[in-house]
Amino acid sequence: MTAEETQAPKRAAQLRRKIEEHNRRYYQEAAPIISDREYDRLYQELLDLETQFPRLVSPDSPTQRVGGKPLEAFAQIAHRVPMLSLDNTYSEKEVASFYARITRLLPNQRIPVVIEPKVDGVAVSLLYENGRLRHAATRGDGAVGDDITQNIKTIRSIPERLRSAPPRVFEVRGEVFMDKRGFAKLNEERSKAGLPLFANPRNAAAGSLKQLDPAIVAKRPLGIVFYGTGAVDDVDLEKHSDLFPLLEKFGLPTSERWWLADSVVEILSAIRELDKIRADFAYQTDGAVVKVDAFAQRERLGFTAKSPRWAIAYKYEAERVETRLIDILVQVGRTGVLTPVAALETVTVSGSRVSRATLHNEDEIKRKDIRIGDTVVIEKAGEVIPAVIEVVKSKRPRSAKPFDFFKHIHGKCPVCGGPVRRDPQFVAWRCENIQCPAQTTRRVEFFAARSALDIESIGGIVADKLVERGLVREPLDLFELKLEQLAKLNLGTEEAPRIFGEKNASKAIHAIERAKTLPLSRWLFALAIPDVGKTTAMQLARFHETIEDVADSQLLRDVLTYHERSDQNRKQIANRLIEAGFAEKSKSKSEKDGIVTEVGRVVAKSVLAFFESEAGSRILRRMKQLHIFPKSEKISAKKAVKLPLAEKAFVLTGALASMTREEATAKIEALGGHVSGSVSKKTDYVLAGAEPGSKFEKAKQLGIRILTEAEFRKMLAR
Ligand code: IVH
Repeated sequence: MTAEETQAPKRAAQLRRKIEEHNRRYYQEAAPIISDREYDRLYQELLDLETQFPRLVSPDSPTQRVGGKPLEAFAQIAHRVPMLSLDNTYSEKEVASFYARITRLLPNQRIPVVIEPKVDGVAVSLLYENGRLRHAATRGDGAVGDDITQNIKTIRSIPERLRSAPPRVFEVRGEVFMDKRGFAKLNEERSKAGLPLFANPRNAAAGSLKQLDPAIVAKRPLGIVFYGTGAVDDVDLEKHSDLFPLLEKFGLPTSERWWLADSVVEILSAIRELDKIRADFAYQTDGAVVKVDAFAQRERLGFTAKSPRWAIAYKYEAERVETRLIDILVQVGRTGVLTPVAALETVTVSGSRVSRATLHNEDEIKRKDIRIGDTVVIEKAGEVIPAVIEVVKSKRPRSAKPFDFFKHIHGKCPVCGGPVRRDPQFVAWRCENIQCPAQTTRRVEFFAARSALDIESIGGIVADKLVERGLVREPLDLFELKLEQLAKLNLGTEEAPRIFGEKNASKAIHAIERAKTLPLSRWLFALAIPDVGKTTAMQLARFHETIEDVADSQLLRDVLTYHERSDQNRKQIANRLIEAGFAEKSKSKSEKDGIVTEVGRVVAKSVLAFFESEAGSRILRRMKQLHIFPKSEKISAKKAVKLPLAEKAFVLTGALASMTREEATAKIEALGGHVSGSVSKKTDYVLAGAEPGSKFEKAKQLGIRILTEAEFRKMLAR
């Protein structure tokens, strides 16, 4: 076996995983992270490997499938005629070999082909029965698609009834698009509303069609171009070029320009002409489709496993330009992830001015060996944010050093200066400081966590969506959430919504209300004060009644002064701290007269600084406004719950039958009472067992209530 052969299965598996992942991002999430070109490269590499080593082909390989999975939320429609896709190519040479191949397969015939724009949108299939729109579906996996009839009906250019003498069955296929101007406007609105932007018009169209709510779709500027048929009955068509006037007759929008050709030269000239004018089309196009015109010839050519032999899609190169990478900026996302962004010398690409490009993550920079000062190639195929495709190594300045992410950010978060960590499981670096101003989501999550305020159901994704939708900017905003807002919250994407719902929302609101009553220690922990963990929070709560007491703590100030100064006051302060129980004499001999304080200097400093800071005082003010006054556990135990035997004095005498005296004492104390050794006027009850002594007599004299063992047990039971 050659080295290549031994490596091939591993590489194929790797490519399949990658392609599956990008398929999922593209089809299910409508949020791809690589360009079509890069995707095609991966796909082609897998295809080549499988061609070279056919034993590697498996039935579940992405090369054996047609498209993405339909979403579960929609009803499913089986296509009467499968919806296939086309073989793609980027080279004119391959267009020539396509034509040579069909000429070989259909010798001695003229083979006219139609060249038409390849619309960059979403493939759909509409079924008209007796002229009425019956249903509409997406391509799905080619065999079964999503039922998007309601959404399709919101597109104004699609007629519900076909004009003039419609056939019995007319299944018509085309591409739904969002026009370029509408796309720009939609993104502008989304940007203002703080919503994530669509990457390109195709994603925007896909996202719109996957909306479960047709009212939202109706607001989206969608259009359609029809370019083919599926199942038809009662239609007399011999060639594709006759379809255009027929579609027009029915009132169905179709391609504004198309060409007929019957030689390679003519085909290529049509492709080039289309490239010159397509910028003026209202919708985005990414190529030209070349199709055999005559249906009889199509039939003879047939299909491969995935696509027809009678057509090919030629894709135009996305516009690429070279520019210089001036710097790599690192942004901190609301979940704490650090994302590198290329700062570029401004250039014009596909008609827009570009000065930033995504670099995704550290690994991506390493893989492409991108360095500051490099000349890079950037590509923009209608996307909002362009991507850095590659480095022009020949133009690399001598001084350019390999990019070291950690060093570049000086080992700390560029927003707050906090520590950063790269989780070995993920490719991303993260800021570890929960107080980092950029990390809203993580702060909210921490605040609501079980060990903090235990706000059930405000976990990771809910917190993130609340922040993303602008409903929560800081943890205390949770207390102003309304039930309806939470119930309506979409935890999925716009494309695949998942609504939080009334029941969950009501549970969450309940938990939020309950959080207000949680003790001080939990609150001190939840606020994520630097250096204050759970134990420290508990220690602080034991010595302070309220949060204001902590913020303005004499004890903490004493700890600071004690540790930071060496004046005579030191001894006095030490005594004060010992008296308050906040410090003990040090046992270490080296530290004569020294003390050990409950919390150390670092904590004391951090807590005082936190509440003195702008953010800290805002929290205190806000808590007051929200009527949140957490109390220390010790205090609330005494004051808040009045125990049934609170402040009652008991005296025990004689032998008890069902319990020992110790047990009886424990029970009285558990209910808040206390037991003393002798009877006085202050005694409330004397519990008398068998053969009681002088205490019994004294109680009788003083008129104190005497309980038999049975009466005492009844009292406990009550
Ligand atoms: S014909 C048997 N014509 O491009 C396939 N497709 O990669 C018939 N597309 O799935 C497709 N414009 O979603 C055809 N003028 C056009 C097209 C077009 C865009 C899309 C369509 C198709 C994909 C092929």
